[in-house]
Amino acid sequence: MNILAIESSCDDTAVAVTSGRTVLSSAAASQIPEHVLYGGVVPEIASRRHIEAISSLYRQALNAAGMTMRDIDAVAVTYAPGLIGSLLVGVGFAKGLAFAAGKPLVPVHHLRSHIAANYITAPDLKPPFLALVISGGHSHLIDVQDYTVFHVIGKTRDDAAGECFDKTARAMGLPYPGGVHLDKVANGGNPDTYPLPKPRVDQNPLDFSFSGLKTAVINLIHNHAQKGETVCVPDLCASVRKTVTDILLDRTAKALDTLPYRTLVLAGGVSANSEIRRRMAEECQKRGIAFYKPELSFCGDNAAMVGVQGYYEYLAGTRADLSLNAYATMNIETLC
Ligand code: KG4
Ligand code: ZN
Repeated sequence: MNILAIESSCDDTAVAVTSGRTVLSSAAASQIPEHVLYGGVVPEIASRRHIEAISSLYRQALNAAGMTMRDIDAVAVTYAPGLIGSLLVGVGFAKGLAFAAGKPLVPVHHLRSHIAANYITAPDLKPPFLALVISGGHSHLIDVQDYTVFHVIGKTRDDAAGECFDKTARAMGLPYPGGVHLDKVANGGNPDTYPLPKPRVDQNPLDFSFSGLKTAVINLIHNHAQKGETVCVPDLCASVRKTVTDILLDRTAKALDTLPYRTLVLAGGVSANSEIRRRMAEECQKRGIAFYKPELSFCGDNAAMVGVQGYYEYLAGTRADLSLNAYATMNIETLC
C-alpha cells in the first residue's frame, strides 16, 4: 500500500511516498540557513517556512514517485510531539489532502517514527527490541514490544542529549545545529582533557540527567574567561561527546542487562553522532547481540520514517478524522 507522509514537527518540512518499508520518494526543505542567524530554532519563523514549503514538496514527492493522489492509499502525518505551530501546518495540510482525496488519515507519533527509520534499511529488523531514542527534545530507553506497542523504561529527568550538545556547542561559539558541529570538531580533540560530571538519578538507574553536565560546561567556559584564559574548543568538544556517550552507554548497558532482548536499536537526530554509533556498536559486539542504527540520511527528521511507521499504525487500525489536532507533548505509550 502507498502512503503519502508528512513531517513538520520542528524545522524540517518533508513529504515522502512510501510503500511498506520502501521509500519511493522523499522531498525535504531545511530551514537551517535561516535559524542559524539566531543560534536556534525560532518557532514563529519555522511555522511560516513550513507553510511556504509544504505544497511544492507535496508535488515534488508525488512526481518523483511517478504517482498522483489516485495511487495513494493513506495520508500519514506527524501530529505530536513537537513545536505546536510547526505541527499544525503538517496536520492542517494532511487533513485537507485526506478529505479532498477521500483517503484515510493516519496520525503518527514523532518518536515512534524515529524508531521506524531503522526499518527502512534493515529488512530483517522486527520487534521486540530495546531502542535508545535520542533527539533534540527527548532521551528515552524504550522496550519496543511490537510495531505499535511501546514501554518507556528510562528517560531524561531534565534536558535531552541533543539539548546538551546544542547548548554546550553554542557556548563554545559553534553554529546551530550545535550537535552536528560539536561532533566534527571533537574529532580533532583529546576527550580526557576536561573531566566532566556524569549525574545519576537516584530513583531509577535507567533515567538520564543532562542539565548538570550542560551547566558544568558553561561554567567551565565562564571560569576560563574570567581568568583571561580560553578553553581548547576541540578538547572540550571531545570531552563533552565522550561524557554524553559514557552516560548513554551506562544506562543502555543496564537496560540490556535487565531485558531478555538480543537487539539494540538507535534512533533520533543524535543517533548520527559518530562516537555514540561507534561505542554502541562496540558494546553490542562485546555482548554478541545485534545492533541497528538508521542511515545517516534518516537520523534527523524526515517524512520517509513517518510513512513507514504510518504503515504499521494503519495495519493496527489507527485512524483520525478531521477533528485531528496537534500536540506539543504526547506519551509514546498511550498517545495521550
Ligand atoms: O531528531 P531531530 O532531528 O529533531 C528532534 O526531534 O529534536 O534531532 C535534532 C538533534 C539536535 O539536537 C542536533 O544537534 C542533534 O540532533 N544532532 C547531533 C548530530 N546530528 C544531529 N548531535 C550530536 N552529533 C551529531 N552528529
Ligand atoms: Zn526528531
